[in-house]
Amino acid sequence: MLSLILPTYNEAENLPELLPAIEKVLKGVDHEIIVVDDDSPDKTWEVAQEMAQDQGDLHVLRRIGRRGLSSAVIEGFLAAKGDVLAVMDADGQHDMDILPKIYAAVQKSSGLAVGSRYTKGGSVGEWDERRYLMSRVATKMALALCAVKISDPMSGFFAIDRKTFEEVMPRLNPKGFKILLDLLVHVPEKTKATEIPFTFSSRIHGESKLSAKVQIEFLEYLYDVSIGKYIPLMFVKYCLVGAVGVVIHVSAFLLISNALKHGADITFQGFSFSVIGATEVAIIFNFWLNNIWTFSRERLHGVHMLIGFLKFNGACLFGALANYAVSAFLFSNGTAQLLAVVIGAFTGVIWNYTMNRLFTWRA
Ligand code: GDD
Ligand code: MN
Repeated sequence: MLSLILPTYNEAENLPELLPAIEKVLKGVDHEIIVVDDDSPDKTWEVAQEMAQDQGDLHVLRRIGRRGLSSAVIEGFLAAKGDVLAVMDADGQHDMDILPKIYAAVQKSSGLAVGSRYTKGGSVGEWDERRYLMSRVATKMALALCAVKISDPMSGFFAIDRKTFEEVMPRLNPKGFKILLDLLVHVPEKTKATEIPFTFSSRIHGESKLSAKVQIEFLEYLYDVSIGKYIPLMFVKYCLVGAVGVVIHVSAFLLISNALKHGADITFQGFSFSVIGATEVAIIFNFWLNNIWTFSRERLHGVHMLIGFLKFNGACLFGALANYAVSAFLFSNGTAQLLAVVIGAFTGVIWNYTMNRLFTWRA
């Protein structure tokens, strides 16, 4: 049996055209269709539910509070009954006429069968130069990581046999759009992958959801499955924030100490006050950027953000004390002001990371 997953987000206009056409193509093929909708604002789920009333093989999975093409497909596969699991975009861009071929290919040799734009006979259709180039570059980068190499690892149109899917499922990374790539990265090398050419056409209605955010998620994914195995992305991001924080810290120090200067000199009290003030400015900046970027998955909002900020301050207190102690010690021992501040700030960053990983943004 073929289980066809249609992931949807704002495809209410497309389903009434698409579903009857699919039924025609799959006539005589034992199949079910599962629409996985992420609670679309245009009520795609409602349209699908209504159609399911008189179409026995149509099922609807409405996900609340979750977003993402890959995770929607994985959830659809998990709810499916078939021995062959397929996915196709619900906007008419994928040529449904090759569905029976894709199904037959998986039935014949297991593994994967992919609707391919880059294999002989396939095409991306009417893409502009920019999108074409982006897709080619992304494909080249992605291929380096694949255990099984094909010409179009970024296709959103493919089928896989149940056994192969169930084996790799626990290792999948459901962030973003690249579900096929993720499968190709994780399946055993000997897995068979057949490519079936098709021409990528234009959307019937609506617009693409492949946003800049999805593109960044793709780059993060490439990092995660390569270097990220050894150095977690979160740590790298934290260090980057910390590094920018040092620049903020030093700038704030220069501003405050300049204001407190008498002529060319600054008193020890003035210097200490400047270090403490600059540290708090850096703490506020670091909290803000870590909250929206480094720990975006555990991002704190409203009251939780306030509590988080207090925790962050608390956790940073030791870091700030270490920072102050180191800077003051170096300064009073004759080290140049700026050097004393930079070394102190780095000491603080290391403390911050350890404490906040443990207390503020716990997974
Ligand atoms: N449930 C759910 N949740 N579905 C989604 C989401 C989501 O967050 N985002 C997109 N979809 C659905 C869309 O409604 C559509 O049916 C399908 O997934 C593809 O989304 P598009 O927004 O149309 O993607 P695209 O046409 O720009 O990208 C296509 O080509 C890429 C390669 O160039 C897709 O086939 C991608 O999978 C493919 O990587
Ligand atoms: Mn599309």
